[in-house]
Amino acid sequence: MDFQLTEEQLAVQAAARDFAQNELWAGVIERDEHQKFPAEQIKKMGELGFLGMMVSAEYGGGGMDTVSYVLAMEEISKVDASCSVIMSVNNSLVCWGLEKYGTEEQKQKYLTRLTTGEIIGAFALSEPEAGSDATSQSTTAEDKGDYYLLNGTKNWITNGTTASVYLVVAQTNPELKHRGINVLIVEKGMEGFQTGPKENKLGIRGSDTCSLLFNDVKVPKENRIGDDGFGFKFAMQVLAGGRIGIAAQALGIASGAYELSLKYAKERKAFGVPISQHQAIQFKLADMATNIDAARLLCLQAAHDKDAHQDYAKSGAMAKLFASKTAMDTAVEAVQIHGGYGFVKEYHVERLMRDAKITQIYEGTSEIQKIVISREILK
Ligand code: CAA
Repeated sequence: MDFQLTEEQLAVQAAARDFAQNELWAGVIERDEHQKFPAEQIKKMGELGFLGMMVSAEYGGGGMDTVSYVLAMEEISKVDASCSVIMSVNNSLVCWGLEKYGTEEQKQKYLTRLTTGEIIGAFALSEPEAGSDATSQSTTAEDKGDYYLLNGTKNWITNGTTASVYLVVAQTNPELKHRGINVLIVEKGMEGFQTGPKENKLGIRGSDTCSLLFNDVKVPKENRIGDDGFGFKFAMQVLAGGRIGIAAQALGIASGAYELSLKYAKERKAFGVPISQHQAIQFKLADMATNIDAARLLCLQAAHDKDAHQDYAKSGAMAKLFASKTAMDTAVEAVQIHGGYGFVKEYHVERLMRDAKITQIYEGTSEIQKIVISREILK
């Protein structure tokens, strides 16, 4: 792995950092408190090319590598993890999968608008009783000749109310188990499709999460991604890449909490000196910095593997496992360093601590990452 970032990668990193500081920082507390979807900010992110970063220019994307995507995700997540999860789902789970496996018609119809942010996408796999156990899909897509009849409920769907296009995982041939699963492109407004109320969440409160309800929705056959029965493999593939994005999100939450703590520790005085001169604080800062550097290396390793067309299931899962733990540990320590100030909203670290938790849950819990890693090690 080459540790030297290219001029282009550094430029992407700088652009994301500027955008996050200038456009996201000011309203982030208010958006979190009122669960306000960052509509204006997402529109700008689309204009700046952050929503279809890895898609080729032919479909309106940035044609960038995964390393650039990781760098941008870290910078955006330092400030607003709600914006970065919207960005991550659109880039990794929707655009990447559509470009790799979609038909030319699907790409022209959906991808060209998803990459620019004209519309945003959602990925619907989880169900009330199928989260980690992704093969146990209760949502059905009955083959009716020239269309599928979609019935079922999906839960905790990021971009649930705001998306226009949904990649929905559903079972067509239960006797074939996971090999009977398909992924269908469902459009908002299709008859029989409704979204549930927005969830009131602990963290990433600016992003909208809700359930999806399908009641005899007729989805045209041409909206299926890949061959009949390819859906589960598709889901596993996009999730493997998605985990690199969420790892970078966790890395950003950790770096954001660390940078705020470092600044605070140099300014805040106790016992006559800045608290950064007390060893109790120095040890915390040293642990934070070490874990963050290790998490960044794992994220870049996974991104490098993907860019080099090598297997990235293990490196992506390792990056997500370690970076999400680092996010949680770092954010908790950041609140501790800030003391009473850390417990109030103005200092941002309590939000980062709440946001950190989801990185250990979505796109596969930490336990799922360990399953993926151990299978790769043992196979
Ligand atoms: N790429 C391609 N194919 C893969 C794959 C990968 N990375 N991983 C597995 N597969 C294939 C296997 O080869 C196998 O195919 P065949 O049987 O045809 O050979 C098939 O998928 C089944 O694999 P497993 O036997 O390993 O399946 P399993 O039932 O034991 O489950 C699992 C594996 C890793 C636990 C999987 O179910 C999983 O990842 N679960 C977690 C799901 C998840 O991440 N949910 C998150 C929801 S989305 C989200 O959170 C988005 C958001 O809001 C931000």
